[in-house]
This record gives sequence, C-alpha cells and structure tokens, in this order.
Amino acid sequence: MEVVATDGEARAGVLRTPRGEVETPTFMPVGTKATVKGLTMEEVRRTGAGIVLGNTYHLYFRPGVEVVQEAGGLHAFSGWKGPMLTDSGGFQVFSLAKTRRISEEGVAFASIYDGSPHFFTPELVVEVQEALGADIAMVLDECPPHDADYGYHAESLRRTARWAERCRTAHTREDQALFGIVQGGLHRELRLESLKRTVELDFPGYAIGGLSVGEERGAMLEALAYVASGLPADRPRYFMGIGDPVGVVEVIGLGVDMFDCVLPTRLARHGSALTAAGRLNLKNARFRRDFLPLDPECGCEVCAEYTRAYLAHLVREDELLGHRLVTFHNVYFMEELCRRARAAILEGRYARWAAEWRGRYAGS
Ligand code: GUN
Ligand code: ZN
Repeated sequence: MEVVATDGEARAGVLRTPRGEVETPTFMPVGTKATVKGLTMEEVRRTGAGIVLGNTYHLYFRPGVEVVQEAGGLHAFSGWKGPMLTDSGGFQVFSLAKTRRISEEGVAFASIYDGSPHFFTPELVVEVQEALGADIAMVLDECPPHDADYGYHAESLRRTARWAERCRTAHTREDQALFGIVQGGLHRELRLESLKRTVELDFPGYAIGGLSVGEERGAMLEALAYVASGLPADRPRYFMGIGDPVGVVEVIGLGVDMFDCVLPTRLARHGSALTAAGRLNLKNARFRRDFLPLDPECGCEVCAEYTRAYLAHLVREDELLGHRLVTFHNVYFMEELCRRARAAILEGRYARWAAEWRGRYAGS
C-alpha cells in the first residue's frame, strides 16, 4: 500500500494486489455468495468499485469449496476480474449461529443451511480461503457483542491473537495477502493490547473488527482512533462493516482506507436510495409523481435514464429491475463518495469537506 497523501489522519493511497491496483479510500461492495446481489460483475465495475468482498462461511457451504476451486477460483467462478477479499467466516459464525462453542482449538457451530455440525479452526479457514483464491484473506477472529464484560473481551482478544498467529503459520499462498484483525471491544487498554499483539505478527494489512455492532457512534470513533493511530502507516487499514454515508466519512477522517457493508445493497432491495440529501424511501407516496432523478447530483447511469416516479413504481410492484437499478445507484453513490473523499484529501481540505457533508446529510 502506497500512501499518496495525508490530510490530518485521513489518507489517500493505492492498494496493490496481484489483480490490480485500487485507489483508496475504497468501499468494497459485499458479494456474500459470489454475487453482489442484483448486479452483474460488469455492472459492479461500472459503479467504480475496485475490490469486491466474498464470504468464506457462505461459499464453504454453497456451492462448496471444491466447486469454486474446479471453476478456477472465485474470480473465474464469479466473473469478477479485479481484486477480491474474503472474510474468514468468523463473524458469520458469531452473528448467524444461535449456538456455538468456542474453545482454544476453534469454534463449533451448526450450519444455517441445514443445521449440520461444523468446526472452524484458524487452519481450516486459511485453507478454505487459499482454495477460494481471493487476493486478500482474513484471519479467524471472534467478534464479541460490544457490551460483553471486560473479562470476556480480554480473554477473547487474546484467543483471537493466538488464532491470528496460527492463521499466519498456516498461510502459504504468496499471491494472497492475509490480514490481521484487531478486536478488544470499546475499552482503551484492551484495544491497545489487541493492537500490539496483532501488529507484532507483522501482517501486510490490518482490519479493525468488533465495531459498528450496535454501540454508540462516539464510543466507536474513540475506539477506532486508539487503533488507527497505532497501526503501521505503510499497511492498509480495513474497517469491517460500515456503510452509512456519514459513518464512512468519519472513519476515513480517522485514517481508514477500506470498508465494506451490506447496507447500500440491502437498503436498495428494500426500496431505499442513498442521495446527497439523505436517504429516500421510494415507497413513500411523495415519489409517485416525482419526475426527478433519484439524486440530481449523481452521475450514474440510473440517474441519467430513470425518474424517481418510475423507480418508485418498480419498487412498489416488487419488480426485479427496481431492485437492480437502485442497487446500482447506491453502490455508485458509495464509490462516488470515496472518490470525493480522496479528492478532498489530495487537496488538503478533508476536514472542511467532511463537516459540510455531515451537515448536509444529517440536515435532511
Ligand atoms: N465484519 C464486520 N465486523 C467484523 C469482525 O469483527 N470480524 C470479521 N471477521 N468480520 C466482520
Ligand atoms: Zn445515481
């Protein structure tokens, strides 16, 4: 990762992967099951997205690692030719399973697909991610609830650090980068301990996990700030799971380079569009005769061709095209937000731009 410019804590950079370069900050659309729901990979590319996420948990069960491997890996299987990242599956085990048993060895859980018992270890998730073949893989971590007690967070972050070391030892693919994940909840000492233990393992990139999981925004930003200021400047920083247009501007301001979230694509499927004036719920009656584009300031192909009235009609009728078009716009919107953030950093006006954005977006 090359940092091209900094402005306060914010960074504009270039992330280099075997499948090309990505300008940062960058929003990674989530392609859980090797698809960004509703879009072709060519359409994803036209949003300006540089890197797409996949999920080990889901792909492991369906279609299964062997199928992806036989296809020639996740890129060949999905048709996405650019950089990809896979999450380790840890987060899905903790967020999707009703029950799971964590031990030093790994985590036992029941599949959401058929209830069958499974056991993920650090070694297994590395092996699976090597077979999937994304450019960036993630270590197995535990993401405890933010309000778990101090003792639990301490125990958990130490186990996550031991798992990270096992992942690093198990990892063999030289054309794939394995990123560490900092946990530690909202306590300063625990975040710093997790930071220290993870950075000692010398990963080529670091994620900040366990945040944006229901805690207050102020507490989240404080915890992020402790971590970001202690991460090595020459490695990419990935904030896991943030995608609201104000939140991403805040985390970019604290030095985050990459982030992902299902929010923009999920909102689209529920008929909500992200715009510079805030979120629009297209099911609202006021859009039935609104012949403006979704976002008059947006340069995307959906805003060039279609009106709110038409999109609202498609959404009300639950037409596939409505979901697709709003998804395209929402992903484009996030990528455009990143491009503007990058331009502001390069021109040394990030704080002013972020304040203006915060005011505009929240004020609607
Ligand atoms: N996605 C969102 N938060 C997290 C996290 O803490 N860990 C992992 N592995 N994935 C995430
Ligand atoms: Zn648009």
